[in-house]
Amino acid sequence: MPDHAPPPSAPSAVTLDERALARALSGCHLIGGALVPARSGKTFAVVNPATGAEVARAAEGDAADVEAAVADAAEAQKAWARTPARKRGALVAECATLLTEHIEELGRLIALETGKALRTESRVEAGTVADIFAFFGGLGGELKGETVPFAPDVLSVTVREPLGVVGAIIPWNVPMLLMALKVAPALVAGNTVVVKSAEEAPLAVLRICELVNRVLPPGCFNMLSGYGPECGAPLIEHPKVRKVTFTGSVEVGRIVARAAADKLIPVTLELGGKSPMIVFADSDFEKTVAGAITSMRFTRQGQSCTAASRIYVERPLHDRFVDALAARVDAMRMGDPLDEATDIGTIISRGQFDKVQSYIAEGLGTPGATGRACSRLPDDPGLRKGLFLQPHIFTGLQNDSRLVQEEIFGPVTCVFPFDDADAALAAANDSDYGLAASVWTNDLKRAMRFAHALEAGLVQVNQNLVVQANLSYGGVKSSGLGKEASLEAMQEHFTHKKTIMVNYQ
Ligand code: NAI
Ligand code: MG
Repeated sequence: MPDHAPPPSAPSAVTLDERALARALSGCHLIGGALVPARSGKTFAVVNPATGAEVARAAEGDAADVEAAVADAAEAQKAWARTPARKRGALVAECATLLTEHIEELGRLIALETGKALRTESRVEAGTVADIFAFFGGLGGELKGETVPFAPDVLSVTVREPLGVVGAIIPWNVPMLLMALKVAPALVAGNTVVVKSAEEAPLAVLRICELVNRVLPPGCFNMLSGYGPECGAPLIEHPKVRKVTFTGSVEVGRIVARAAADKLIPVTLELGGKSPMIVFADSDFEKTVAGAITSMRFTRQGQSCTAASRIYVERPLHDRFVDALAARVDAMRMGDPLDEATDIGTIISRGQFDKVQSYIAEGLGTPGATGRACSRLPDDPGLRKGLFLQPHIFTGLQNDSRLVQEEIFGPVTCVFPFDDADAALAAANDSDYGLAASVWTNDLKRAMRFAHALEAGLVQVNQNLVVQANLSYGGVKSSGLGKEASLEAMQEHFTHKKTIMVNYQ
């Protein structure tokens, strides 16, 4: 049995002092089971977006660190692949138990580095991570192949084999969760993994890696922090990396896909969305307004790939719906992410803040458009430098507006009235993206017609939940390639099928 001992310098016990934990994790990658500094010795600042204060330094990785991590992962993969699949699963499930003990700690740490409110987002994310490890941990025995009827006296079977070293690049919005969707199935399938964290949020994922390394053999799960071109690019280009999986922007997704094409290796991409929500007048009003609040993901400052950022409301309901929505958002409290009373925290970074503000300014300057600023900026002087941004609900925009077509990744929703269901469907599908969509109605026939006709990887009727373990998740069009979160995702994205024929004539 692994002894769950922490590597030197990381606190062994659950550490609810998030600032102390951030300092303890400073300046390190995790390679071959050990916390190590960057080969160059360079670090960069990790900033609490609620105060602007530096809370830690992160190791600034480059090609030399990638080389070390991939070499260890490749070495570890040989024995890991020979470990029986259910045993691998059992170890990943054991990680889930350990992660469950650390939910509060991980929630506090992610709130510190991302500005996401503890109660509404950060603690929830940490719990989901443990659930994803538990889910995939149970799937070791499902790595099955088939028998193929070929000829008498020839046994023809397929077996699923791991791909080798997986390179994973993750973003900052739900970094722990999006990482778990990649790491847990990759490991259970017999691969080893090198993750490059997002520069804005390297700490909580490093802590998870460190916890998991108390259970798994060294080298199975490695973590690098650093910038995209300097650390992410050499990872995806490394010849020993035999699979890449990426969540982030379309622009970088294309870079990752090109690198994968050059190496002729498989790639999974989750590239965000511009998800429509279609509301019919017959829907249950209170449930739909509450559903819209969940859908807009304003508790995550709209920094969600499945956020309903375009809401089409049947005209008789439109004005009442917008008023109810605005009133609900007004009642949400913006403030210190670590305060239990807080509903809405901060935007992740100055760059993202400026980007979202530029969209809001453009919307407010558009003739015929109205943008309602909702909720209230916090008045705590300690948060004066925080990246707090009032959520905006826009009406009166045209479908070809940049606000309606581009992923803002901020607390901005555009609402439109519609008279004709087919026009609403056409507008909903008039997007480069196709990640998620929802339709709200009590008319089953109409709900099913829309469920089939909406161009999206995930359509929900009368709900709009975030990604859930066991349900395949992934988009069409510019939203990406492939699926995550399910058995299918593990089988199809982290193994290849070998055919074996045995002639016993
Ligand atoms: P990004 O796509 O630049 O960053 C995501 C990850 O890719 C980070 O780890 C980054 O270091 C890495 N990366 C960047 N350049 C790279 C390169 N050349 N090679 C390898 N890795 C590289 O996303 P960013 O700039 O943080 O956000 C920009 C926009 O992307 C957001 O406003 C949002 O619209 C979208 N986005 C979508 C996400 C999703 O969940 N699908 C998550 C984060 C951002
Ligand atoms: Mg970028």
